Amino acid sequence: MFSFSDQNGFCGRRCVWVNGPVIVGAGPSGLAVSACLKEQGIPFVVIERSDCIASLWQKRTYDRLKLHLPKKFCQLPKLEFPEEYPEYPSKKQFIAYLENYAQKFDIKPQFNECVQSAKYDDACHLWRVITVSTNGSTQSETEYICQMLVVASGENAEGVVPEIDGLKDFTGEVIHAKDYKSGEKYAGKKVLVVGCGNSGMELSLDLSNHNAKPSMVVRSSVHVLPREIMGKSTFDLATMLMKWLPLWLVDNILLILTWFILGDTQKYGIKRPSLGPLTLKNHHGKTPVLDIGTLERIRSGDIDVVGGIKRFNHTSVELVNGETLDIDSVVLATGYSSNVPYWLQETEFFAKNGFPKTPFPNGWKGKCGLYASGFTRRGLAGASADAIKISQDIAKVWKKELNHKKQKVPSHRRCISTF
Ligand SMILES: Cc1cc2nc3c(=O)[nH]c(=O)nc-3n(C[C@H](O)[C@H](O)[C@H](O)COP(=O)(O)OP(=O)(O)OC[C@H]3O[C@@H](n4cnc5c(N)ncnc54)[C@H](O)[C@@H]3O)c2cc1C
Ligand SMILES: NC(=O)c1ccc[n+]([C@@H]2O[C@H](COP(=O)([O-])OP(=O)(O)OC[C@H]3O[C@@H](n4cnc5c(N)ncnc54)[C@H](OP(=O)(O)O)[C@@H]3O)[C@@H](O)[C@H]2O)c1
Repeated sequence: MFSFSDQNGFCGRRCVWVNGPVIVGAGPSGLAVSACLKEQGIPFVVIERSDCIASLWQKRTYDRLKLHLPKKFCQLPKLEFPEEYPEYPSKKQFIAYLENYAQKFDIKPQFNECVQSAKYDDACHLWRVITVSTNGSTQSETEYICQMLVVASGENAEGVVPEIDGLKDFTGEVIHAKDYKSGEKYAGKKVLVVGCGNSGMELSLDLSNHNAKPSMVVRSSVHVLPREIMGKSTFDLATMLMKWLPLWLVDNILLILTWFILGDTQKYGIKRPSLGPLTLKNHHGKTPVLDIGTLERIRSGDIDVVGGIKRFNHTSVELVNGETLDIDSVVLATGYSSNVPYWLQETEFFAKNGFPKTPFPNGWKGKCGLYASGFTRRGLAGASADAIKISQDIAKVWKKELNHKKQKVPSHRRCISTF
């Protein structure tokens, strides 16, 4: 990495030439690509807007969170989870694993730098990545210039806050799920949880555990599956069945088994989509909920299920069925979005929704040295698969260029670059 400051010059920002790729994001995806590159001796720079690695896990998730898939599906390339970890590691254990991962592979991101724009310069065939320092009161800009750009800023970079009539007039607390830590402070309170994905379901359970009175909004339909079927992870079972059977058949098997374990969820106001859980995930990216106890609380009446919202008033919410509920607080478990369209000036590879246009398994590589890691809607397993493919591809390009340079420069004039 070579850098120079030009505070008084025409660009007024620090300029950094990067040998190898710039990786945007130090979450699991960015770390996994970094580790794979490190092993092959390829230099890189990781840029992270936060002041720590895995900021989603460290700063924007609730206390009781555990990985919801077995650990064998969640470990990153080249380092297994410690043997003593349980089948479903806690958030704390996962963060400890990632800290150890970064240390083992000597990954040192540029913290507190947020990528504001990244653009391919056709004239010089290089990426120009501009960051703004997010540390302290004075903002400084840096421009990184590189041949390859790995986008690893995450599918869940920003919390989605929907516009709902009257929400601004509601006088109680309104937070997004990313800012929810625990139900402790909600004891005795009536809390409306908007959304019934994995976040909405688990936050409702947490609120109920802390003696709050949650009402969960289910405006459309959702597949709720048990986390385990006959002692085996449902995900593991589905993966195994998919090796032999078509998707529609696996969907039907899962739904029949689910019916035996969870009963008819429709009885409790949770309609099932017409497409099966895996088909829906594959075609529309909608994740099924893996139940870890919420359904039991719905059955017992500790968690109320309500339909769509019409509007909020000062201290209440009106539902589309005409019912009005008095509420103290609102938690928006309304999902997340990618922030790629806000900073990446490229429209061929990435779509408007901030995901690669090409579906899995081919959405990891664009043109001109552009890569996407962790946009497969397949969680940590998808991030690992991307990292391996991306690092192998970069290594190929890197080695080819290195050989090319060696052939061009007489051996007595070769210099060793530092990074
Ligand atoms: C509540 C919750 C629970 C989850 N549980 C699971 C689970 O159990 N199993 C599973 O497989 N998946 C789970 N997921 C999905 C999860 O997103 C991934 O597993 C994993 O975090 C993806 O890693 P990532 O590195 O791609 O994205 P992230 O973890 O989001 O990391 C992206 C990083 O990029 C940084 N960044 C973003 N924009 C910029 C920018 N412009 N400039 C600089 N840095 C930037 C962010 O600060 C962040 O640190 C969960 C998601 C949520 C929200
Ligand atoms: N490890 C874990 O246990 C765990 C925990 C939490 C999250 N996660 C993962 O994190 C990712 C995000 O999950 P998520 O649950 O936060 O988001 P999500 O799956 O996108 O769910 C968002 C929910 O909000 C609802 N919604 C959005 N706008 C609404 C509105 N205006 N009114 C009413 N409802 C509205 C959606 O309903 P519609 O379906 O009708 O649009 C949906 O139910 C997923 O990949 C998930 O698996 C994992």
